[in-house]
Amino acid sequence: MKLAIIGTGYVGLVTGACFAEVGHTVYCVDNNAEKVAVLQAGGIPIYEPGLAELVQRNVAAGRLHFTASTEEGVAKSEVIFIAVPTPPQPDGSVDLSYIEGVAREIAACLTGYRIIVDKSTVPVKTAEKVAETIRRYAKTKVEFDVVSNPEFLREGFAVDDLMRPDRVVIGVASQRPVAAMREVYTPFNAPIIVTDTNSAELIKHAANSFLALKISYANALSAICEASGANVQEVTRGMGLDARIGTRFLNAGLGFGGSCFPKDLSAFIHISEQLGYDFRLLKEVQHINAEQMTRFVKKITDTLWVLRDKRIGVLGLAFKQNTDDVRQSPAIDLCQRLLKEGAKLRVYDPEGMDKARPLLPPGEAVTYVDDMNAVPEGCDALVIATEWPQFTQLDLPRIRKAMATPIVFDGRNLLDPAEMEHLGFIYKSVGR
Ligand code: UGA
Repeated sequence: MKLAIIGTGYVGLVTGACFAEVGHTVYCVDNNAEKVAVLQAGGIPIYEPGLAELVQRNVAAGRLHFTASTEEGVAKSEVIFIAVPTPPQPDGSVDLSYIEGVAREIAACLTGYRIIVDKSTVPVKTAEKVAETIRRYAKTKVEFDVVSNPEFLREGFAVDDLMRPDRVVIGVASQRPVAAMREVYTPFNAPIIVTDTNSAELIKHAANSFLALKISYANALSAICEASGANVQEVTRGMGLDARIGTRFLNAGLGFGGSCFPKDLSAFIHISEQLGYDFRLLKEVQHINAEQMTRFVKKITDTLWVLRDKRIGVLGLAFKQNTDDVRQSPAIDLCQRLLKEGAKLRVYDPEGMDKARPLLPPGEAVTYVDDMNAVPEGCDALVIATEWPQFTQLDLPRIRKAMATPIVFDGRNLLDPAEMEHLGFIYKSVGR
């Protein structure tokens, strides 16, 4: 099929590349001409495992194109996906101005029937508004359908999640676009749920909020485990093996971050309020998440006492493993809190250092280190803030010798408490 994707951020670019990989012809549109030029020259603006190869292969095969012209994308495609940002506003609601802007742009170029698909995460009832907008701004009385097709990819695993989705959700207001939407997704061999647009939009907010709830549940349990001497990993494993619960997304740690969970929770609470429901359960999920970081920082200050001029090594800046994304990263939040107390930081992240620099400017208080094993040199404490798997491969005997005082705070429970103690570390993790 011929498809256009408007917006080449995480979702748009990976979706476009994966659609091309299964044989569709894809026009990726972005209004940032500089970004389009980078992509046309073979550059990839984000770090995502497997993405660069996928883009190169499909550009070479002539299936993946980049353009700054919405008109070209709309003219050449049967289905147009909207994948533009929906950033949070201070009151927790979502800024839908990019979606509205794209809807108007599409309306201005529509000359014949098109399917317009919203892939961005949006509050319930957005598809209805998009349809209304296109109807209002279309130059002629042209036919179209608006479909809601939320994306469930995780950063760091985006290509894999897209190529092998658990399910595909297609929300429609009429039956006309269903066959074409099925055709887009048939190569992915996933269960396809066809429903109404409002339910499709709610599925996305409901799923992300439930996953955030699982994490907050595990984090709340970690507090009880610390108070009682139990081990949260044993508890969540024992719970999770019940197939009705499942073992995934029950890792206690520093709490969830990133550009999705915090934003989607606020948005879901906000839209629920507008619809007349006080979603107190989700407010508590947010509260537990914030508290988890405060409890962890207290653990550090309780141990180190005064932080002023203490040297602290921090491993991990990205909001999770396998990504360079530092937006709403718990690791950055932690660093900022330590800096506020006067600590001097030595920081490292395998991919996130460039994007972290504007948030944690290098200088007297922050030193960026290129080698994870060199981070702890001369430090009074070492903190693990992101769940990068390579942090389980640290040269611990070397680190033990290099530290001023061998204290490790493991915010992601990556290391083995018994081994750490055996090596002579004072080791504190979360809920165990
Ligand atoms: C999340 C969802 O998992 C995707 O399904 C969804 O498509 C995406 O949001 C989105 O709305 O676009 P993402 O934010 O990329 O994906 O990352 P996750 O892997 O979900 O991790 C989110 C945060 O939760 C991270 O800070 C991670 O460290 C934390 N987390 C995750 C935990 O603290 N414990 C866990 O057990 C799992």
